[in-house]
Amino acid sequence: MRLASAVTSAVLAGVVVLSGSLAAHAAPESLPVVEAKEFTDAASFLALINPDTQLSPADYTPKKLVNVAGTTYKLRPEAAEAVEALIAGARKAGHPIKLLSAYRSYGRQAVLFNQYQAQYGTAYAERISARPGTSEHQLGLAADVGSIGGGTDLKEEFGQTNAGIWVAEHAVDYGLIIRYPQGMEEITGYKYEPWHVRYVGKEHAAAMKDSKADTFEEYHDFLHEEKQKASEKADEKTVENAATVEEETAPSASKTKEEQTSETKNESGPVKDDDLLVLRFLPPYRDWGFGFTEK
Ligand code: DAL
Ligand code: ZN
Repeated sequence: MRLASAVTSAVLAGVVVLSGSLAAHAAPESLPVVEAKEFTDAASFLALINPDTQLSPADYTPKKLVNVAGTTYKLRPEAAEAVEALIAGARKAGHPIKLLSAYRSYGRQAVLFNQYQAQYGTAYAERISARPGTSEHQLGLAADVGSIGGGTDLKEEFGQTNAGIWVAEHAVDYGLIIRYPQGMEEITGYKYEPWHVRYVGKEHAAAMKDSKADTFEEYHDFLHEEKQKASEKADEKTVENAATVEEETAPSASKTKEEQTSETKNESGPVKDDDLLVLRFLPPYRDWGFGFTEK
């Protein structure tokens, strides 16, 4: 699968540094430096979890969760701060919103999935709910919001309300993304959820917007592709440098171009085993005729 191979190659590549040579549609100043383990570490704000990946251990719990101010809902501290600011910003703009859900444990997600499964059957349940061990809510980075008094809680209509439109437009300012946009089910695996915001941090939210990626999956692809370009560019530079060194030093002291290239590739050090334990690729739950974008 495309996603699996992209992540694997990123892990093998060690540290990924995104530089100013990135695609024309991304402003260099908004491109964060990304380390390879950020792609696979559940504690990372870049962690990509979807129906093809599973937390490991499946009952993973974030190290630190705090209450979102004025509620009993919990999130990772950075996500809580962002969601509090989003709610305050929406209120200030005249669109009062409330929190409907935030961190959910493995057990809580299992209860919800089972309820949906009993109510709607497995196929539909899988389109609206993550199985336990595969939800962003379990990462402590996702929150569901709704209009106060709007009557559109957890309904697609929320996206057409003034509050929903405001959230879609301004989430990026708070380091949040609309994780399951309309018409993107083939890529995200889930139906449109205008209420579900995911914390990625301000830098990545802005970079994702600049990259024109509609989904987090596509943003990950973008990061991997840019990493690949940066790595190829670094290799070319290494070969050029090696040629210069060969010219300037005695033959006995010089190294082959292959040796130079290999050393550069490894200079960030090996990725340790425990960095790889957090997200695992699953055998597909369903035999999708679609997958991640093949652009
Ligand atoms: N509704 C989203 C996909 C979840 O259950 O995490
Ligand atoms: Zn949600």
